[in-house]
This record gives sequence, structure tokens and C-alpha cells, in this order.
Amino acid sequence: MKHVQITVRPDQRLFPTAPSLYGIFIEEINHAGDGGLLAELVQNRRFRDSELPPRCHWRDSTLTSPSGWTSPFPSRPGSVPGWTWSGVSECPWTLGIDGLTVRVSTGAPVQLVNEGFWGIPLLQGAEYRFRYRFATALSGRFTVSLKDPEGRPLASADLEPGASTEGGVSLVCSETCDVATLVLNFSVPGVYTLDYVSLFPVATWKNRPEGLRRDLVQTLADLQPRFLRFPGGCFVEGFSIETASRWKKTLGDVRDRDGQWTLWHYRTTNGLGFHEYLQLAEDLAMEPLFVVNCGLTCQGRPGEQVPVDELDEWVQDMLDAVEYANGDPSSPWGSLRALAGHPEPFGLRWIEIGNENFGLPYNERYRIFFDALKSKYPKIETIFNVHWEVGTETKGLPVEIVDEHFYPDGEYLRLYHNLYDTYDRSGPKVYVGEYAQLAGNQGATLAGALNEAAFMTGMERNQDLVVLSSYAPLLAHVRHAVWNPDLIYFDGTSVRLTPSYHVQRLFGTHRGDFVVPLELSGPTQVFEARGQLTIESRFIEQTVDLALDGLSVSARDDEWGLSHWGSLDATKYTVSGRLRIGTSGVKIRFLDRGGLWDQQNYFQWELEPGESRLVHIGGWSRAKPVPSEPLSLDPHQWYDFEILVDSGNLRCLLGGRVVHDHRIPSIPVVFGVATSSPSTHEVIIKVVNTGVESVCLDWNSRCPFSKTPGRAIVLDAAGLREEVWESPASKPYVLGGQTLVIFRHCLL
Ligand code: AHR
Repeated sequence: MKHVQITVRPDQRLFPTAPSLYGIFIEEINHAGDGGLLAELVQNRRFRDSELPPRCHWRDSTLTSPSGWTSPFPSRPGSVPGWTWSGVSECPWTLGIDGLTVRVSTGAPVQLVNEGFWGIPLLQGAEYRFRYRFATALSGRFTVSLKDPEGRPLASADLEPGASTEGGVSLVCSETCDVATLVLNFSVPGVYTLDYVSLFPVATWKNRPEGLRRDLVQTLADLQPRFLRFPGGCFVEGFSIETASRWKKTLGDVRDRDGQWTLWHYRTTNGLGFHEYLQLAEDLAMEPLFVVNCGLTCQGRPGEQVPVDELDEWVQDMLDAVEYANGDPSSPWGSLRALAGHPEPFGLRWIEIGNENFGLPYNERYRIFFDALKSKYPKIETIFNVHWEVGTETKGLPVEIVDEHFYPDGEYLRLYHNLYDTYDRSGPKVYVGEYAQLAGNQGATLAGALNEAAFMTGMERNQDLVVLSSYAPLLAHVRHAVWNPDLIYFDGTSVRLTPSYHVQRLFGTHRGDFVVPLELSGPTQVFEARGQLTIESRFIEQTVDLALDGLSVSARDDEWGLSHWGSLDATKYTVSGRLRIGTSGVKIRFLDRGGLWDQQNYFQWELEPGESRLVHIGGWSRAKPVPSEPLSLDPHQWYDFEILVDSGNLRCLLGGRVVHDHRIPSIPVVFGVATSSPSTHEVIIKVVNTGVESVCLDWNSRCPFSKTPGRAIVLDAAGLREEVWESPASKPYVLGGQTLVIFRHCLL
């Protein structure tokens, strides 16, 4: 068995832990909100789920956005997803802007049936609140029933609205059924236009009317998260101006809220709106972190931009959001919060300006939003996006916190476990706003969770810099998981916690007050430094006289606009030639393993007018293994360049000068981090073995452990358990393969 030497010095405090390091991020993706957290049981309650977003086109179940992005839009425009009818032979309804108009003829009752979100789950004896609204007053009566798949009624009520267009009734269910339907039966002849139908369990989180699902909120509460980032993600960006998330559309009576089509292939009712998010944050003692759209839709899809001189309304939206959340109840927006039942401020603490935005369009908009926010609310802390500019390259902008996202493979998470060890401490703080092992982890595996844990040891070790983090995505309905892995999977009746969930909970609930030194030496793995040379076609004309020593095969200009040289297994080669950076810069990939999108893995030399960068792309992640070099280059001049690749030794030369010289380090198998808690007089040590073999942990005897046994909280393939941990100073610990252990022990 291999040995790992571990030395912890709990008597030496490096710096205090970041109180808000672990939070959660809720986005309307995977039906996390509608059909998920929001306890609404009726699907398509406002009959708008097939409404096309403005300026978009539909064909063959595909939506094309104004900028040409295509995505699934399963329902035919004009259809009524979630609803069916029975009782008559011809379709009895038409869909219009007022809602769903149903025609009932004499002697031909019509039933409207809602299937819920893949079935309506009902519990015996539980009470459900049915609500409805018609566009015009209804003469006569109708019946509401809850039925099992055989059509047997489990609850039923007759309703006679009279002069009123709206109403409701409580239904108590006679039997448990996981896949019931809601049935409205109209037997009185006439024409009825329904514009709202809703069914909620009365037993919601804190019994709030039309509130959130108890079981799901409880899983979030168990993480003990310190902050809540919401409501996205790409959801905030949208794929067109009209599908961008606008918080003002999410206020007030849920029956009147405008929903919108999301870029995650379904429509949201916005029932989980700005107020509900703030309330959830308060309920779970989380500080709110609100992400605003800064006038850019998702730039990767590709985006639309609100012209800079038309941004006032968007900037004002952000300022009004702060006033709604924190303002005095006598202020215009604060008064709406009070009207919604919450006169006290919610304590919105952070505003993130945009999500995954980048480049010049972002930088200029960021500055406008930042200045407006800081001049009115100087205490609100701001967060900057660096999706494609990872590091502290904030281009001379005033930046307090940068949000970095990582969706790579497991090797990448382990390789960059120490990414933050060398970050510039004089720059902004870091928020790791989204991360998860993506490639090779679609099934949310234990191996993936442990690779994430390895990366998290690096975040914990650098809590003087990394002050916030959140796994993503958080929630997924098993019937609509458009993004995998997710932290928590659910259906109508059950919740599945992934290994990553347990890692998050263990890291979030075993904190300490000070980070203390931990040294660990053990087995390592070699990074597989292999792959071809790739140049995007748009850069080819900026690179001439290419001489390729060690690379022979070439494939020019594939369907993605990439030209490749050499094999995917090439480990040693030299590329030289001349390049001209022009105004857009030049990017050259090497050690390119040939994967696309979430599978991609390559190094890239990026030359821009002001600087040179060596970056490593892995899936949807980007890390800088070496600091950037400031360079003053003439965009129109040709420069000699050379790239030398030799089994993990990488060198980039420009004009004969070495600009980057990097040796890809070997990758540890075992990772650790330690904190101390003076209040409980404990040391808390997290050790992650990502390898499949057991290792023997040899504790350095200088650890001043007390004689009383400690605790070892173990997560491995057998599950989660707690063990007694005795005499660590004298007794090695056998750490099983693919295991996370949190050791807690009192000190002398
Ligand atoms: O978490 C899923 C998506 O990943 C988020 O919406 C986006 O920010 C990122 O690209």
C-alpha cells in the first residue's frame, strides 16, 4: 500500500475562513423552479406554454432565435401542452390571448384534463388548494376532480362561481397516488374562457400559500448554505432580448405574472419570482446574491446587445431591485415589498453584473452598471464575470469579486486543485460561481464528486481569496434533465441526493474558523500531455510559413472552422512560423485532444495587442497555468514565433524571446486541507483519495492531538458513516480508495 505523509499544524493560523464560502445557486433549468421547487401541481396553468417568444420562428419542433440559434421547442405553437380533453369527438377548445376557450354543447359535457408535471402526486388525507380564473363570468357550474390513472375520483368538488370570475376550493385526497390528473368537467352548455388553473398542496415549506416543496427545500437547508445566487445562469441572459430574465415581471399576484420561454426548453411561470427567492434566502439564513442582465443576452448562442445608449431602463431595473429588497417600506419599490407581506428589508448583499459575459461589449456595460450601483448603493458588493478571461485580468475596471466557472473533466479538477495558491492577492476576490465535473460524469458519480472535492480543498486552502462558491446546476427533474450532472435529482414524489451533494454538505457543515497549514505528499499521476496542433480558420491567415516538426497529418478547415495537424497522440513537436496579431489577436491550440464542447481539452497560446496568455481549456473551463505576460505588439507587424511541446514541457517564443515556459505538473491522487476551530478546540482535516487504491496516511507526530478519540466522517462507495478516530498521532489511518474523510479531533 502506498503511504501518504500528512503534516498538520493546527497551532499556526494562516488566516480566518471565509464565512460565506459555501452557498447555493438556483437557476430555472431542468424544471428546478416550475415543476420543481415551486409546489404548483398544474402544468401550463396560464395556457401559454406553446407561445412563441417574439421574433422567433418555429419549424419541426425547433425554435430559431433572432440571432439564428436553434433549440428544441417541442410543442406546436397554438397547442395546449399539459392539457387534454375528453367527452366529445371534436376538439372543444381554441387558444387565444385571453386563455383557453371551451365550447360546451347541450348534452355533451367536456372534460379538461391536466397531467401535471409528469403526473400529479397526491397523498392520502392531504389537503390541496384548487384555484381558477375565467376571463368572463361563468353561468352555471363545473366540477373539479382529482383522478387516479384508472379514472377513479380521489377528491371532487362542485363549483358555482356565480357573478365572480375567479374562485377556489380545498380538496382532500382519499388515497395516495403518484400520477393523478386534475379534471375539470363542464356540463352546462356555454362558452368558457379559462385563464388560470392552479393546484397546490397546503403543506408547503413553512405552509406558505402557493409556496415551495417541503422536501426539496429541506435538502437545501441541510446543506447549511450561506448565500443564495439566483436566478441564473444563462436563464438571466436569455437567447433574445425578450427572453432575458426581468425581475419586475416576477412580482405580484401569480395569476398575472408574465412568464417567458427559457433557453432550457420550457416556459417559466415566474411563480418562483424575485420576492420568493428573497424569502427563501431569509428562510434558510442565506444572504441573497442577485444576478442582473447587463444588456447582453447569452453571447455564446450568439447574443444580442442592448445598445449602450438604451441601457438606462436596464440599469434602473437593477437599482429598483435593490430598493425592492432593501429599501424603506415608504420608498416606491420598498412599499411593494411591504405590500407583499415583508416590511423588513431582505438584506440583498451582492449584485452580479451579467452572467458569463465577456469581452469589450461586457466591459463597457459592466462599467455603466457598476458606477450606477456604487453611486447609489456603495455598500452593495459587486461581482464581475470572467467567463473567457479567467484570472484577475479585469482590464483596468473596478472589480471587487470575479466569478469563475469550471465544468471540466476530473483530471482537470485535480490538476488545478492549486490554481488559487498563486493568484494575485492584490486583485479582486474570487467567487467560484459554478463548478462540477462534466465530462465523464453524466451520471453524477462518486468519482466525479471526489474530483470536485479535490478542487474544493484548493478553494478552502485559499479562503483569503476565494470567498464564495456554488456548485451548479443544483436541481433537476429526472424527466427534464437537460444538463447533467446536477446536485439533486427529483421527481414528483422522491428526491435523489448525489455523491456530489454529500460532498457539498460535508464541506459546508464542517468548517472551522482559521485555515491552518497542511502538507501532504503521496502518489501522483502524470498528466497525459498529448494532442494535435489546431488553428481556427479565422487565425490561419494571421500565421504564415508554418513549419511543423514532428507533425505530419493535416486536416484543413473542418465543419467547426478548425485546421488540425498531427495525431491526437502526438507528444513531441515544434511549430514555428510568422504571425501577425491584427486587431483581434491570435490563438493557437496545441496538445489538443480533439474533443468538442464539454469534451474539449487543449492548451492555447493567446496573443493580444497588450498581452500574451497561456491557457488550458478543459470542457467549459479555462485556467491560466502561468501568469500572463504584458507585451506591446504592433498589430500589423509580422513576428517570428515558435511553440515547443515535449511531453508536458511547453514553451512559447516570440521574436526569439521565451514568453511562456511551463512544465505541466504531476497530478496528486490524495488531497487535503485543514482548519482549526478555537471555540471547539478542534482541528478539522479533510482528506480526499481520488484513486481507486487504498493509501496509508502517516500522521506527522508534531500534531498536538488530545488523547480523547476523535471522529472520522467517511464518504465512500458504501455511503456515508461516522467512525471513532483514535490516537491519530501514533496510528496510521488506512484511507480506502475513492474516499473522502473528514477528521475532527480535539487538540491538547
Ligand atoms: O449551470 C448551467 C449553466 O452553465 C448556467 O446557466 C451557465 O451560467 C453555465 O454556462
